[in-house]
Amino acid sequence: MSVHSSITRITAPAITARKGGTPIVALTAYTAPMAALVDAHADVILVGDSLGMVIHGLPSTIGVTLDMMILHGQAVMRGSSRAMVVIDMPFGSYEASPELAFQNAARVMAETGAGAVKLEGGARMADTIAFLTGRGIPVMGHVGLTPQATLTMGGFKTQGRDADTWPAHVNDAVAVTQAGAFSLVVEGVVEGLADQITDAITIPTIGIGASARCDGQILVLDDMLGLSGRVPRFVKEFGDLGTQAKAAIADYAAAVRDRSFPGADQLYR
Ligand code: KIV
Repeated sequence: MSVHSSITRITAPAITARKGGTPIVALTAYTAPMAALVDAHADVILVGDSLGMVIHGLPSTIGVTLDMMILHGQAVMRGSSRAMVVIDMPFGSYEASPELAFQNAARVMAETGAGAVKLEGGARMADTIAFLTGRGIPVMGHVGLTPQATLTMGGFKTQGRDADTWPAHVNDAVAVTQAGAFSLVVEGVVEGLADQITDAITIPTIGIGASARCDGQILVLDDMLGLSGRVPRFVKEFGDLGTQAKAAIADYAAAVRDRSFPGADQLYR
């Protein structure tokens, strides 16, 4: 009997093959139960470093650690069985050198069993992406508005408002593609630029605040479900779970206080 277990999840080459085809459905998840809900519908589950803000109450993604990504990555892997799980490389874990990036990405892959890592940056990260993909680690790129660089970018600013900057952004996307990335997140760029990037590269673009013409879309699950409170302007909320959760908690608190909370005799009938 072979010692190799068969691959049952969606793979990086299968995602690449979706270029120009049926749009790729991607969502974030950080926990096992949420991953199970998403797994039924999504092609890609991203364990995004947005978990720093969404789950841990951090002010930005800068304080997220490799250990946090691995812990949540393991939970998401346990909660899912079909979608490809991609794990974000956090700030400081990959920028210094291709060797450092490989060491940390290999740890993520080995300790979680995920299908790929994602890292931010265009042409400046091309050598690192080539180093990882050449050594067996599938990489999803991320260009446009890159949240780990908001301190140098001067905040969460839509990219490409000035058309003179478009060639540099397209160049970033081409460099990431040529380095061997299997897909590319395009975040927070004006529609015309997003379309130009999609047309310029041979791997699927996965848009967030970009264009409906991207080869797929991704949203932060908690934003999309209405659980985040304040969400970016480009997010369409497909649910209002925040309001429902508040009402349920208020009902529970009232039931405890007025002693209408069911006792064991009622519950165990
Ligand atoms: O961290 C994250 O959730 C992301 C997506 C929003 C693309 O990078």
